[in-house]
Amino acid sequence: MKLFLDTANLSEIKEVASWGILDGVTTNPTLCSKENVPFEPLIKDICRIVNGPVSVECISTQAEEIVPEALKLSQLAANIAVKIPVTLEGLKATRILAGSGVKVNMTLVFSPSQALLAAKAGAAFVSPFIGRLDDVSQHGMELVEQILTIYENYQFETEVIVASIRHPGHVVEAALLGADIATVPYGVMEKLVKHPLTDTGIDRFLADWKKVSLK
Ligand code: G3P
Repeated sequence: MKLFLDTANLSEIKEVASWGILDGVTTNPTLCSKENVPFEPLIKDICRIVNGPVSVECISTQAEEIVPEALKLSQLAANIAVKIPVTLEGLKATRILAGSGVKVNMTLVFSPSQALLAAKAGAAFVSPFIGRLDDVSQHGMELVEQILTIYENYQFETEVIVASIRHPGHVVEAALLGADIATVPYGVMEKLVKHPLTDTGIDRFLADWKKVSLK
């Protein structure tokens, strides 16, 4: 499974890139707004660091405006994927953009029917927001399972990005289901490697090593 970082923060991206496990980045308007720096230079910097797709979201709502905005965004770097919310206007724009070779990540996906239409429109990625479904007492992972089944049934090549991840369990469940990608906030990414028994195990080995005779 590919692991993307869900952030627009350069320090977080550089740190996780140094771990050797970073496959891409996803941003959204909320994440970009937290950085308090000019948008385009920020995205170019992110794209230079990341060796994989960087999702950047369109804010236009009508197809005739989404298409030029997406084309402009896609010219910022070779590894840009344009995020477009899954609406009727978004589908129209996605079909046009996919025909021009632009990678579209259809976002704010909350139902299997939305994911089916996104794939039919030619989206390269689809982003079900599982944490937000869990927040309203629905089962985000069930949506992921349904989307994967539909895509398998018809051999769609659209990759499923499990998004709105809240904890390491979400990442593990996504992997068990065979999702293509999980996009993970920095705090959760750190937790993926941590285990208290690993920490106490290291402490014990280091303490015992001091008792080993080296002569
Ligand atoms: O990047 C999209 C998604 O991951 C947002 O997550 O935590 O705002 O629901 P969240």
